[in-house]
Amino acid sequence: MSLAVTLSRAQEGVAAPQVMVEVHLSGGLPGTNIVGLPEAAVREARDRVRVAIQNTAFEYPNRRVTVNLAPAELPKDGGRFDLAIALGILAAGNQVPRERLDNCEFLGELALSGALRGVSGVLPALMRARARGRKVVVPRANAAEAALISDADVRVADSLAEVCGWLRGTQDLPTPAAAPANDEVAGDGPDLRDVRGQRHARRALEIAAAGGHHLLLVGPPGTGKTMLAERLPGILPPLSESEALETCAVLSVSGQPVEAGRWRRRPFRSPHHTASAVALVGGGSHPRPGEISLAHHGVLFLDELPEFTRHVLDVLREPLESGSIVISRAARQSTFPAQFQLVAAMNPCPCGYAGDPRERCRCTPDQVQRYRGRVSGPLLDRIDLCVDVPRQPLSELGATRGEHDEDSATVRARVLAARHHAMQRAGRSNAEISTRELERDCALGPTERTWFEAALERLGLSARAYHRTLRVARTIADLDGGAASLARVHLAEALQYRRF
Ligand SMILES: Nc1ncnc2c1ncn2[C@@H]1O[C@H](COP(=O)(O)OP(=O)(O)OP(=O)(O)O)[C@@H](O)[C@H]1O
Ligand SMILES: [Mg+2]
Repeated sequence: MSLAVTLSRAQEGVAAPQVMVEVHLSGGLPGTNIVGLPEAAVREARDRVRVAIQNTAFEYPNRRVTVNLAPAELPKDGGRFDLAIALGILAAGNQVPRERLDNCEFLGELALSGALRGVSGVLPALMRARARGRKVVVPRANAAEAALISDADVRVADSLAEVCGWLRGTQDLPTPAAAPANDEVAGDGPDLRDVRGQRHARRALEIAAAGGHHLLLVGPPGTGKTMLAERLPGILPPLSESEALETCAVLSVSGQPVEAGRWRRRPFRSPHHTASAVALVGGGSHPRPGEISLAHHGVLFLDELPEFTRHVLDVLREPLESGSIVISRAARQSTFPAQFQLVAAMNPCPCGYAGDPRERCRCTPDQVQRYRGRVSGPLLDRIDLCVDVPRQPLSELGATRGEHDEDSATVRARVLAARHHAMQRAGRSNAEISTRELERDCALGPTERTWFEAALERLGLSARAYHRTLRVARTIADLDGGAASLARVHLAEALQYRRF
């Protein structure tokens, strides 16, 4: 019987559904028919595969070749199935042993010479194949990515000829060199030791890191807001292996290189305020992940927050709520993960100097109001921490490091200890716990409760502010040893981080 089946994987969001390539050779007029691929992709795949097979010193069957890519309803773009199709054709014609194809998956685009070209989305495909206990052959261009999955059975090949040699048992295919076990995070990124002064803002950054809270930095130009935000990933705990793989999977499907030495580092994405909604949340005819998904398990930094258009800020609401984004295109939906920590920066007013002791602000109250109004509402409601980053005396900006200018490693140690308390209590960071869990985990003594309610009343804060403040106070208490009940100092400090 001249039927052969090979396995490959498609790409749909960060999922990698299996694709079965069935090849049948029959009598009749020679020609090749591919079913299950869009028109243009069929033509291209047919030509590439035929020429690649001929250039690999094999024979292209002089018969009727029918190739079926199943299931039919999956999106099947690009040349990622070339290798699987070529091997199916060779196996159907008994040019490579059919039984060797069992339990093996193939990814890779073919050049006309028969060389293998890299494809996107290798990481999610390998994760699925590993779960099924299958071998996978990938192009050498994807070796670095493949090496990240430590216990997968992966082989790397340069060409169709090598893969055929391996299937025939005449040559071996190498496994990808193991990724360096480098999970050092604090080491080589920007370090907090470069920041002079700004004790209040540094403290807020530490609290944000410890609780996973979203953070807003407000201050005049050039006071270190961007500097501080860039240093958040360096004080966050390292990614666990499964988190790192999820984060890299997004990079992988977006076709961006995964740097082996840095893959456990939390991502930091800072889209410009002119970025479109599609660039931010993802989209396109073959949906690609946007900045919020590339920031999965890491930090999304929106500098100059009021400069982003209202529409762009509005599309952030759904992912902030759900931790993922669903992109609908025609009849198809793709889901990308988007669990990010939001850090935003803005000036207090259009000229930047409102509240500055030395520089005079030239904005009218109306202008200030309008400027701040641009970011009010649902987005701001989700930001637990808001902190001023004021101009500081030039004397503090001297070359020597002050005693409070700690380095990232020192701060990170405290963050890790605080996170440990939260994990023990709820299994999650404080930013992720529900209101009910929050009530349960924030015991307030009678005097603390009375004091806290009076303080909220005096400051004119809403019920929402109550929970937000409690959440931050919980993290402050975790940084302070993780006591079960909140003390007045924790609540008082948390109250400082309410929004203007
Ligand atoms: N606290 C600080 N410690 C050390 N350097 C600082 C500090 N604040 C500002 N600088 C210096 O000023 C430069 C600008 O800082 P940064 O870009 O963080 O300011 P910013 O608050 O983001 O300003 P803008 O509102 O204009 O974006 C930094 O590259 C750094 O050299
Ligand atoms: Mg800046």
